[in-house]
Amino acid sequence: MMVAESDILNASILIVDDQAVNVSLLERLLREAGFACVASTMNPHEVCALHRKNRYDLILLDLRMPGMDGFQVMEGLKTDDADGDLSVLVITAEPGHKPRALQAGAKDFISKPFDLVEVKTRIHNMLEVRLLYKKLENDNKMLKRLDRMKSEFVSTVSHELRTPLTSIRDSLEVLASGVAGSLPDKARSFIEIAQNNCERLIRLINDILDIEKIESEQMSFALRPLDLMELIDQTVKADEGFAAQHNVRLQLVAAQPGAKVHADPDRLAQVMTNLISNACKFSPPGSTVDIAVTREGGRLKVAVADYGPGISDEFLARIFQRFSRADSSDARQKGGTGLGLSISKAIVERLGGEIGFTTEKGKGTTFYFFLPECSEPAATASDASLARPR
Ligand SMILES: Nc1ncnc2c1ncn2[C@@H]1O[C@H](COP(=O)(O)OP(=O)(O)OP(=O)(O)O)[C@@H](O)[C@H]1O
Ligand SMILES: [Mg+2]
Repeated sequence: MMVAESDILNASILIVDDQAVNVSLLERLLREAGFACVASTMNPHEVCALHRKNRYDLILLDLRMPGMDGFQVMEGLKTDDADGDLSVLVITAEPGHKPRALQAGAKDFISKPFDLVEVKTRIHNMLEVRLLYKKLENDNKMLKRLDRMKSEFVSTVSHELRTPLTSIRDSLEVLASGVAGSLPDKARSFIEIAQNNCERLIRLINDILDIEKIESEQMSFALRPLDLMELIDQTVKADEGFAAQHNVRLQLVAAQPGAKVHADPDRLAQVMTNLISNACKFSPPGSTVDIAVTREGGRLKVAVADYGPGISDEFLARIFQRFSRADSSDARQKGGTGLGLSISKAIVERLGGEIGFTTEKGKGTTFYFFLPECSEPAATASDASLARPR
């Protein structure tokens, strides 16, 4: 990033000195160096008001002035300076004042009697740094604004897409059910393809909306004490059909009856469903996916283990990133978008927990998450509308 020389020369400078000869010397020097916006005052009492009005890029401040010295001026300037970007260069003949001035908030100093090259160089450098900061700040603001616009755009488009898609899904369901008249087998198989793809699109849109909500910290959580085993039983039941499609059996190998967690049942089911669906997608046909709930180090641990291919070393570091899949052909073969784990991680962390995995090539993968145990009595989880596997 660069600052144009013309911007430096157009920066606004205020000279504060009680002696007319110093003021005119500095003014002349700055004009000769090409600076175009140089103002001055010999009255230290009006510096704060002037700065409030003009927001100078640089104030050249004499320290020794009668009535109000440079240190007092700086105190006044600092109380006005909410952003902490005050740019003061002190002018002093006393070497002992330099550290005190820096402590008081000056950015640099020039010594009297003036060494013209020193004065010009210090002013130039200081303005360059100052303008760079300003530019950085502006760019940052602009990027944040663009990022917000992007998020709003993605959310709006996703919302707008969801409504017609849901209507398409409903219509396809009606067609498939035969209510609108019986369909030839060929037509029915096309309807089924359309239904599957429609579901896939709706899931993707819901995931994108979830990601946006997580990013903007607007994902809502209806937290309450929950019976963990009840929720897990329900999710396992709901996911059995999906497992069967992959010729996989879900089995609960360890339970903690009565264990309670403080969580949002829908969100927790979303995590479970993603871990179970991943395990099923990557399981060899005929194998099992083992779900275990244990206590470890005072926390509850839920583990979902498969006997699949494991996760390659190159992919380990990226697994929780958005849209990351070990193999892009997975998307077509296994119907995923690579958002599930990133959403699961955010949910588990929001619930005060931690998510992780262990994997061994050719042997299988275990995804697990820890949650703090809750001692309040649990409400029933049965009213949770559970997420569907994909
Ligand atoms: N149990 C597993 N065994 C092997 N690889 C896995 C396993 N779980 C996840 N992965 C890898 O991590 C990737 C990301 O998983 P993630 O759940 O985030 O996305 P996805 O399942 O592809 O899509 P979706 O957004 O529908 O969940 C998967 O595509 C896969 O490459
Ligand atoms: Mg997934």
